[in-house]
Amino acid sequence: MTSPRDGAPSGVPSGLATERGNAAPSSEVSSMFDGISGVYDPMNLLISAFQEPRWRRRAVALTRLRPGGRAIDIATGTGKVAADLHRRVQPGGEVLGVDISPGMIGVAERRFNGRPGLTFVVGDALALPAPDAAFDAASIAFGMRNLPDYGQGFAEMRRVVRPGGRVVCLEIARPRSRLARILRAWFDGIVPVIGRLAGQGSAYDYLVRSVRNYPAPEAIAGIMRNAGLVGVTWTGMSGGIVTLHVGTVPPAR
Ligand SMILES: C[S@@+](CC[C@H](N)C(=O)[O-])C[C@H]1O[C@@H](n2cnc3c(N)ncnc32)[C@H](O)[C@@H]1O
Repeated sequence: MTSPRDGAPSGVPSGLATERGNAAPSSEVSSMFDGISGVYDPMNLLISAFQEPRWRRRAVALTRLRPGGRAIDIATGTGKVAADLHRRVQPGGEVLGVDISPGMIGVAERRFNGRPGLTFVVGDALALPAPDAAFDAASIAFGMRNLPDYGQGFAEMRRVVRPGGRVVCLEIARPRSRLARILRAWFDGIVPVIGRLAGQGSAYDYLVRSVRNYPAPEAIAGIMRNAGLVGVTWTGMSGGIVTLHVGTVPPAR
């Protein structure tokens, strides 16, 4: 566990990730993302050394969505995964992007305004604003580690996806290989520096803290199974610095 504020300045989420979930309250996480919503996308590209679009495309492919399908993208941020999903389900498909930060949702709405069937809404991943079995797939990219309860996050994804549909989670991983450890050291060192240059130092310190204790891939797979998902698999990308988990909602009996 962490100390009450973990040395974080006021207005910046204090918590580290734990085996159960992020120790930072969602209200703090939401305000922090509101604050960085304007710089989030270019920062993301830099921090990921321009790998992030490739990771996102792979996550979208793993949903196995087809034209006419329906998907939900959770912790959608500025909406890029949601927009990629939307492209995949055309013609005729629909995508809902959900995020707890009104600032991030505002950026997504402005950017993707006027695409029929692509909708963004402010909402909590732990209590999704959607009925049961409403979607063919659910995705979450770099959002799971921000949630205070990973099990509840996956249970909600399972709830809103129909039997046989897929749940996909893309997240920064605990490094295993030598290459991943080197990349992670680069990430830990460079992210706060880039954050400071963008005038958002403390927020990007949080980013580094938030990935530090995120569970290992096997543990995340176990949490997904406990949430009722089956056929859970995972794969590393870019030397294992990110992991993509996929599970399926069991077919109806
Ligand atoms: C690192 S960003 C990822 C954004 C986007 N998915 C991407 O790939 O760029 C994490 C997002 O999770 C959102 N978030 C954090 N806690 C949340 C919660 N409880 N419910 C919904 N969204 C949440 C934040 O507001 C933020 O937009």
